[in-house]
Amino acid sequence: MQTWTTAAYLIAALLFVISLAGLSKHETSRSGVVFGIAGMTIALVATAIVALGSASGLGIALLLVALVIGAAIGLWRARVVEMTGMPELIALMHSFVGLAAVLVGWNGFLEVESGHLQLAGSLLGIHHAEVAIGVFIGAVTFTGSIIAYLKLSAKIASAPLMLPGKNVLNLGALVVFAALTVYFVITPATWVLAVLTVLALLLGLHLVASIGGGDMPVVVSMLNSYSGWAAAASGFLLGNDLLIITGALVGSSGAYLSYIMCKAMNRSFLSVIAGGFGATTSSAAAVEGEHREIDAAGVAELLSNARSVVITPGYGMAVAQAQYPVADLTRKLREQGVEVRFGVHPVAGRLPGHMNVLLAEAQVPYDIVLEMDEINDDLAETDVVLVIGANDTVNPAASEDPGSPIAGMPVLRVWEAGNVVVFKRSMATGYAGVQNPLFFRENSQMLFGDAKERVQDILAELKTREPVG
Ligand code: TAP
Repeated sequence: MQTWTTAAYLIAALLFVISLAGLSKHETSRSGVVFGIAGMTIALVATAIVALGSASGLGIALLLVALVIGAAIGLWRARVVEMTGMPELIALMHSFVGLAAVLVGWNGFLEVESGHLQLAGSLLGIHHAEVAIGVFIGAVTFTGSIIAYLKLSAKIASAPLMLPGKNVLNLGALVVFAALTVYFVITPATWVLAVLTVLALLLGLHLVASIGGGDMPVVVSMLNSYSGWAAAASGFLLGNDLLIITGALVGSSGAYLSYIMCKAMNRSFLSVIAGGFGATTSSAAAVEGEHREIDAAGVAELLSNARSVVITPGYGMAVAQAQYPVADLTRKLREQGVEVRFGVHPVAGRLPGHMNVLLAEAQVPYDIVLEMDEINDDLAETDVVLVIGANDTVNPAASEDPGSPIAGMPVLRVWEAGNVVVFKRSMATGYAGVQNPLFFRENSQMLFGDAKERVQDILAELKTREPVG
């Protein structure tokens, strides 16, 4: 049985590695998901067989009930979740991993206390260190992810919490944690673990509450990483090699993703993981001016005379589900000999790769979907840019106003193009809550309304201009 389980765990671990490799490219991402599902199925079945072999009647019943309830909730949520609701769902799931790590840690401690697990000398010390570290990472992940969930679902404001001396508070919490861990290893007492748990819960809450709206994408991938390390810590306590490997894979890939995103957004990695370390309150310059409006017929006219068009999609395209008419518009313009390309900002939308998924879903060819760095230098030569439901990712204040909360974040320089049409419903700000001077530029025009309906209107206008017969 032991050999079979080890073999199953090894195969599952290999499938997870292949899955991650597949997920790193658009073309192979679907097969990446299939490999991941296969790996998780093998891992679940092998773990359930091991558990069933050693559990009592009540244990088996509880395991089966938990499996059925968990699978039913998982299937239901995955079926009903909107693409725009994915980030908060992911954040909520990370909180479950954190909570599970806290429970596994406490269980590991209580097993020793109750005499169910007997360990001698240095092994006991290592066990208690694992308990303290597992509970700490799990609790930070738990409350951090709940705050991320509340911010992403707009249940609380996304502005950063600026407590006086917040960096000292965070560093102080880490020092107290280290001291408590040493004390707990020497004198394992329930109250020490309880204090450590409360401290970690408060630290997780404060770390994520201190980070502003514009940096939330990094926070989500960082919590992804923390949840991986929390799972790995549980793997050590449970003696489950697969959990250690899987946790380390999630932990390291999440950390690397956070690093890439920090680089893309010109943010300090250390500052973000330390809860906005070094960040100061910023005050953006007031944005004033007159905006100009355009209607669908006007945009159709602009497009009919254009040789090159760039579309920069954002969160609003996802909300409006405008990707299908946008794909139709792209096809139509290309048939008419217009060069159409897409410029995708690394944090456009609400989750990494959000726009790429939507465009792939609508069958926009991959080779005309370019990343921000690939398209930015071409924007000055572009006749028309259609900004479809994007706001923060095309905000010139990021490069022009040092006092802006998004100062320093690279953005799509759409204002350099000949004409810019901004599709949105109002003059409201984007996720980071920052005013956008793009709307008042001389070459910008606003096309108000739902992005899907407006693109459909433009398609209808273009149709009326087609030669009859
Ligand atoms: P945002 O700055 O969020 O702006 C989206 C715009 O879409 C809004 O200003 C909104 O204006 C418009 N909109 C909403 N519904 C619409 C509809 N039905 N039709 C037309 N327009 C609509 O978008 P962005 O440029 O994609 O930037 C993303 C932001 O989210 C960044 O600040 C980023 O840091 C943050 N964020 C990203 C992620 C990841 S990983 N991508 C995760 C968390 C947070 P109206 O209300 O006026 O229509």
